Amino acid sequence: MAIQKLRESGNGLTGTIAVPGDKSISHRAIMFGSLATGKTVVKGFLPGEDCLSTIACFRQMGVAIHQEGDYVEIQGNGTKFLKEPDAVLDVGNSGTTIRLLSGILAGLEFYACIQGDASIAKRPMNRIVDPLRLMGAKVEGRQGGMYTPLTIQGGNLHSINYELPVASAQIKSAVLLAGLHAEGTTTVIEPEQTRDHTERMLKAFGVSVQHIEKNISIEGKQSLTATTIDVPGDISSAAFFLVAGSIIPSSRITIQHVGMNPTRTGIIDVLYRMGAQLTITNESEETMEPSADIQVKSTSLKGVEVGGDIIPKLIDEIPIIALAATQAEGTTVIKDAAELKVKETNRIDIVAKELNKMGARIETTEDGLIVHGKTMLTGAKVNSHGDHRIGMMLAVASTIAEGETVIENSEAINVSFPDFFGTLNDLQK
Ligand code: S3P
Repeated sequence: MAIQKLRESGNGLTGTIAVPGDKSISHRAIMFGSLATGKTVVKGFLPGEDCLSTIACFRQMGVAIHQEGDYVEIQGNGTKFLKEPDAVLDVGNSGTTIRLLSGILAGLEFYACIQGDASIAKRPMNRIVDPLRLMGAKVEGRQGGMYTPLTIQGGNLHSINYELPVASAQIKSAVLLAGLHAEGTTTVIEPEQTRDHTERMLKAFGVSVQHIEKNISIEGKQSLTATTIDVPGDISSAAFFLVAGSIIPSSRITIQHVGMNPTRTGIIDVLYRMGAQLTITNESEETMEPSADIQVKSTSLKGVEVGGDIIPKLIDEIPIIALAATQAEGTTVIKDAAELKVKETNRIDIVAKELNKMGARIETTEDGLIVHGKTMLTGAKVNSHGDHRIGMMLAVASTIAEGETVIENSEAINVSFPDFFGTLNDLQK
């Protein structure tokens, strides 16, 4: 249990910060560096628990990975030299690790068993098991492949054309990574565009990937060549400070070198529509992933409607958007976001339950939330339920709440932002 009483002075949050490296990009850098031939260097790596789980899995398959803080060196020898793990691969809390790794394992000619923590055990795996079976992999799991632990006997894959049943970058990536080891050309068709870090990074490793409208194709039997990856700051982590800076009076925060991949910037579009004062400078398009500095100043916000094809571009930011909406004039409606039910927690239920304990007025719907603003929040005993993004959202809520807030299970924040409280404290000096 952690007791947070973060802001008593009446001053805003002020200063310049950097947020840790992008989680999605950090996972992929470790995975692709492990499949490549040669020495891959990763700068700006996120040393959070999720990405450390990815490193541990590849070390178990014989890859030499040296990691010190945000600097990583991977000595890859190509996929032929990956060895069968002699114990269960443990992904911890990381959905990205288990889903992308399953796609990779499906193409390798050995047997592996993967599992994770209690949250992973409840998350649907059939979304990757189904296409991997269609490609010829032998994949088993509890309830016919719905849940972990998963066992995978890979190898001898053939290509498929696969229409994604939900807009998910994890499913898309699992199929493309299996396709890398299949005979022929594998094509994934997306209902809506999802984050494209896999496609961008595969190209940086020398793999050819075709993207025509909603179709993404990869030809099998291509090999990866080691490279250097610069990971920008995670916009999903920056989001907590973009909202904190907007809703805490007298705040002015600059966040440096934030990833600005257009498949991830939905939070910025929504905050603009809510009336937030954001200034974007130092835009850089030179590297594989664009980045920029973002400055935020506090202001009054108004409620908006959020739904449709922007949802995949901000799916991880909905908890903090909901908090922003509690401080906005009018009603905010978030819809088309049923995927929130199968994240680290059921984020539709948990966001409403925990913020309502603090005095928010949030209703749940089948595919989203209705937030009635503006409400004053008061300190309460709340719980992250082991979900890092819920923990950080509640910590930001506690900075504007009257009185003391106790956040149970706040250590979950280490999954993606180990120094979150240090960064928040720096802005309060
Ligand atoms: C991720 C994709 C998203 C996102 C997750 C990271 C990725 O999940 O919520 O935090 O790195 O590919 P889905 O693919 O399930 O939408």
